[in-house]
Amino acid sequence: MRKDKPSRTAFKVALNLVTLGSKSGMEAILPPGIVDATRKLLVASGATGERTVKWAQSQRSVSIYEAFDWMLPGQFEAFAHRKAFCERQVRDGIDAGATQILVLGAGYDTLGWRLAPEFSGVNFYEIDHPATARLKARGIEAMGRRKNLCLIAEDLGKRKLSDVLKDCSSWDESASTVIVAEGLVMYLPPEAVRDLFCQGAAVTGIGSRIAFSYIPSAADGRPDAGRWTGFMLWLQKAAGEPWTWSIRPEALGQFLEELGWMIAPEPAGEAGKHGIEFFAAATK
Ligand SMILES: C[S@@+](CC[C@H](N)C(=O)[O-])C[C@H]1O[C@@H](n2cnc3c(N)ncnc32)[C@H](O)[C@@H]1O
Repeated sequence: MRKDKPSRTAFKVALNLVTLGSKSGMEAILPPGIVDATRKLLVASGATGERTVKWAQSQRSVSIYEAFDWMLPGQFEAFAHRKAFCERQVRDGIDAGATQILVLGAGYDTLGWRLAPEFSGVNFYEIDHPATARLKARGIEAMGRRKNLCLIAEDLGKRKLSDVLKDCSSWDESASTVIVAEGLVMYLPPEAVRDLFCQGAAVTGIGSRIAFSYIPSAADGRPDAGRWTGFMLWLQKAAGEPWTWSIRPEALGQFLEELGWMIAPEPAGEAGKHGIEFFAAATK
């Protein structure tokens, strides 16, 4: 990705969520408080201004997103399902005893900020590329810091997850942990994806889980975004955030097993495919 500029895709996800908050029926899917927190974070971080956020909340904006759904069916609402899936994995993990939550490639995600006060005995960590993490940190500072939320600025394509966490004195490798890697692995080089899963297993305790989304591979090995794959690959590259990793869904179980994880059975309705992405979870 572009080294010096905050992530455009993270901004796009966040703005899309703000628009989804104005679409009728979405309140049943979106985690409570997510739209308001995202709206505040976008402005407080300086990622955008009030006017853009207001525009994103308009019915015209909803109509524009809906109109583009013919290209990538289901993609507009997919972000609501993705957020709901990840938050469910985190809440279920905490119910089952997790005391650490690690959000990788966090972008403008607000899960840590929203859930940290509710679960004061759980430590929340976020890692993102420095250009985005710095902007996010500014926003979190303005919205109110959480004592159990730690923001880390690192390039996971360059530095191993285990090395990054070694620098973090409160990280406990024996603690049951939920790792969230939402909309991240498609942007990492293949070796970095293997490292991420492998080290995710190495730096977490028994009972840990990882929730993530991924782009499926087509028969030719390229990421598969349906009829518009060629255009999407070009668009991502032009935006400076090319898709560099994908996998066939039927190969995922074995891939994870080799790296220390066991794929979890899909909960009805939540996992599987929304838009162009698959959601999956695995346990240790
Ligand atoms: C599509 S955005 C998703 C953001 C967030 N997970 C969400 O769903 O709201 C991808 C995120 O991955 C981060 N990212 C991409 N490559 C990275 C890298 N090498 N190291 C750390 N973060 C990276 C970007 O900065 C961006 O925030």
